[in-house]
Amino acid sequence: MDLSIRGIVKRFGPLTALDSVSLDVPHGTFVCFLGPSGCGKTTLLRVIAGLELADAGEIRLGERDLSRTPARDRNFGVVFQSYSLFPNMSAAKNIAYGLECRGWSKPAIAERVEAMLKLIQLADHAHKLPAQLSGGQQQRVALARAIAPDPSLLLLDEPLSALDAKVREELRTEIRALQRRLGITTIMVTHDQEEAMSMADLVIVMNGGRIEQAGRPVDLYAAPQTTFVANFMGRMNLISVNIAADGRPVFAGMPLTLAGTAQATTRTLGIRPEAVWLLPAGAEGDNIFPATVREVVFLGNITRVAASPDAAPDTRLAIELHGAATAPAIGDAVAVALPAAALRVLT
Ligand SMILES: Nc1ncnc2c1ncn2[C@@H]1O[C@H](COP(=O)(O)OP(=O)(O)OP(=O)(O)O)[C@@H](O)[C@H]1O
Ligand SMILES: [Mg+2]
Repeated sequence: MDLSIRGIVKRFGPLTALDSVSLDVPHGTFVCFLGPSGCGKTTLLRVIAGLELADAGEIRLGERDLSRTPARDRNFGVVFQSYSLFPNMSAAKNIAYGLECRGWSKPAIAERVEAMLKLIQLADHAHKLPAQLSGGQQQRVALARAIAPDPSLLLLDEPLSALDAKVREELRTEIRALQRRLGITTIMVTHDQEEAMSMADLVIVMNGGRIEQAGRPVDLYAAPQTTFVANFMGRMNLISVNIAADGRPVFAGMPLTLAGTAQATTRTLGIRPEAVWLLPAGAEGDNIFPATVREVVFLGNITRVAASPDAAPDTRLAIELHGAATAPAIGDAVAVALPAAALRVLT
């Protein structure tokens, strides 16, 4: 069943936490809400869960209008950031709890709990209390508890943020594999762009209670529409241009060529560091500028270079080169190329 969110508004007193949010989530999709602290991610998740009442708007799951369904009847699985397991119950009891509430029979519960523990690879830890489990293990139990009743939607609010980097990466892969296997529509809140990019089918970038841009990770990375999205998803060189009388953008004293029918409607263009070309001094052509190398940082698999066009010495272009073989030295005279196909117009 597809989830459809239309015009959701949520106010807390004078503050508008959600400002007319609309969104479609196809069945079986893994969605990430991504954005800085306070942008409304948790609020939107809580509205979907039914834990918070929207001031306006509509949420539908398939044919069902959720605004008429209380939280407990929605059959959604929810996992929060902090370990929300019952501290006085074993892992197995924690997983069983929701099934007992739903009136499952004893044998059905036993069977389900066993299957869940196996699924999260904690079969040997069934009788441990949360305090006897590691952080990663506790979040796995919380996940098992959420998916045990076969929810129609899985809602995760920064479930990995309290874990250390290595466990976090393992769990990312595990959660995604589990979600694919069960085919369960999942929404995960995160403010970690790498987490969103590596896990999601669909990323919803939020800013100030609004959706800034939504799309597949590759599309958001390749074609961000705003400076905010460009900076939030990876690194982006921002280039300030003047617009010439003929409409062409001018940078460092030279008109820039854009791809196809693209028009410089704003004065900011963006280009990813890996898309900038470093050429020998004297190279000429469209979008090629004489430049000087300012900085070289060797990072093993890549080398980060900063170079300034000689006609725009205050602009520092970040350039990423693979490996070290081709790296220049600080002070080298070079040329930088800004390929038209990689230049983005940002609002
Ligand atoms: N119960 C509440 N009462 C008043 N204001 C609230 C309440 N819940 C959230 N807010 C406000 O609404 C805005 C959005 O909060 P929300 O928790 O959704 O942000 P978030 O994107 O989840 O941030 P974070 O990444 O820090 O968790 C914030 O300005 C917050 O202070
Ligand atoms: Mg939050």
